[in-house]
Amino acid sequence: MNIIKSTLLLLSLTILACKSKTDSEIRLEKSERQLTGLRTLSMKANNIPRSVDKNGAIRWIETPYDWTEGFWPGTCWMIYERTKDEKWKEAAITMQKIFKHHKNLTNDHDLGFIFNNSYGKAYRITGENEYKQVMIDAANSLITRFNKNVGCIQSWDVVGNWQAERGWKFPVIIDNMMNLELLFEVSNITGDSIYRNIAITHANTTMRNHFRPDGSSYHVLDYNPETGEVVSKVTAQGYADESAWSRGQAWGLYAYTMCYRYTKDKKYLDFAEKIANFILNHPNYPEDGVPYWDFNAPNIPNEPRDASSGAIIASALLELSNYTGNKYLHNATHILNSLSGDAYTAKPRENGNFILMHSVGSLPHGNEINVPLNYADYYYIEALTRLKEKGL
Ligand code: GLY
Repeated sequence: MNIIKSTLLLLSLTILACKSKTDSEIRLEKSERQLTGLRTLSMKANNIPRSVDKNGAIRWIETPYDWTEGFWPGTCWMIYERTKDEKWKEAAITMQKIFKHHKNLTNDHDLGFIFNNSYGKAYRITGENEYKQVMIDAANSLITRFNKNVGCIQSWDVVGNWQAERGWKFPVIIDNMMNLELLFEVSNITGDSIYRNIAITHANTTMRNHFRPDGSSYHVLDYNPETGEVVSKVTAQGYADESAWSRGQAWGLYAYTMCYRYTKDKKYLDFAEKIANFILNHPNYPEDGVPYWDFNAPNIPNEPRDASSGAIIASALLELSNYTGNKYLHNATHILNSLSGDAYTAKPRENGNFILMHSVGSLPHGNEINVPLNYADYYYIEALTRLKEKGL
């Protein structure tokens, strides 16, 4: 009898403990269990996981450098910050060491993605000067790509690569807006406004040229580096020059919301809302809130979804909700409910130990179609963490 009583008591206590957890906490814990498997694999390989290949094996980051390399250590930092489990800190430090020397690269714009999401988090969480210096070095490399005539940071180099074959002289992609967060941060930590001024100029030029009247954006703009004139408006990863590539829309939404965070300039907030309205009211925006890879893909509904766009949009809408009286909270939670269900969340130990299935890297390049991606998981964890901060 006593055993039955104590079992029942234990059961009720467990149910109560579970009930007191919010949805986001339950989902974070579940995600962290899955990523523990990935942590073990990556520590053993001393390498950063990016996706899985056709055989289901882990696809590690590309050499000599990879724009996604900051996301995995960034994810480890986010989990460490929540759990205070030293194993996640150790993994974050080990993983970000792999690419520390890339802070001096001046041949690509992705330094913001790479360093703000890894060393930026490391510095915010630990306050260690070593991490601060890496951020400053990376920001100094990034601003070498700024051209005053154009008012933008050049995204890709155009010599001896596939970008050269397109005949571009000064390509700027919408994704580049995401690199500005590193510059805003480095201005804040150094007190030097040069980084912030470049970020603001880039954001304003992009707002002026990169968007259509309906709030959607082109993927690539090629500028004349001498006159600053727009030469062409095209795509690289989208379906067509005039289409709305989903992750590009997600980057724009996230980045203008972030610009408002650092500047409190209302034009960025209004612009972020315009982009949100384009996304959320688009006739091809699916019922479950997880976009097709391109809003204008020709065979919708028989086109791949892009869970990475869904996760970025959810995270961005949660921040936008902070500035708009929770206006977009229900849209964000709707996306997260979908992503957290069986349709997108992998079963334990499947999917290469990544959390989310069904993302698209670059469909026109035949690269990473309907696969897990480290940045889909990164923004999913970030979105859940933002939801948790709201007590939900
Ligand atoms: N920045 C590259 C991508 O979004 O695929």
